[in-house]
Amino acid sequence: MPSMLKMLLTAGLVASMSVAVAAKGFASAKAKAGGVAKVDPRGQVLSLSCSGCHGPDGKSSGVIPSFNGKSPEYIEAALKEFKSGERVSTVMGRHAKGYTDGEIHLIAEYLGTVGKKTK
Ligand code: HEC
Repeated sequence: MPSMLKMLLTAGLVASMSVAVAAKGFASAKAKAGGVAKVDPRGQVLSLSCSGCHGPDGKSSGVIPSFNGKSPEYIEAALKEFKSGERVSTVMGRHAKGYTDGEIHLIAEYLGTVGKKTK
């Protein structure tokens, strides 16, 4: 399981690097289209690794807690607390340590926004 997690994380990181350049163009195209919330698409790519446990857009149907509908601030704070160990966890501390604070911000921004839209 830990090695599978690593593979998922690596795949996510590699994918995020390759879309980083395209993402910039996409974000500004969206902004020009007007009206649509400007959420950095890199957050969506990084968030793919979460859905395996938490379900699509953080809507879990099993024992893993759901965070769909939570604010970006809530999700960012939770991930940083897991990362620092301030918040006790089984897997989230190890998972959160794989991200920089900047990546955590992008993930929280994406998941906190998509959750509100699909609730
Ligand atoms: C291997 C399964 C797994 C993966 C992958 C995973 N989580 Fe978790 N998550 C958990 C578990 C289990 C908990 C409960 C805390 C614990 O024991 O680690 C949790 C708890 C949380 C919580 C706290 C929910 C609350 O009610 O406060 C948040 C937020 C969260 N995860 C976000 C994420 C995000 C964002 C990602 C992707 C970057 C992610 N998780 C990836 C299993 C996972």
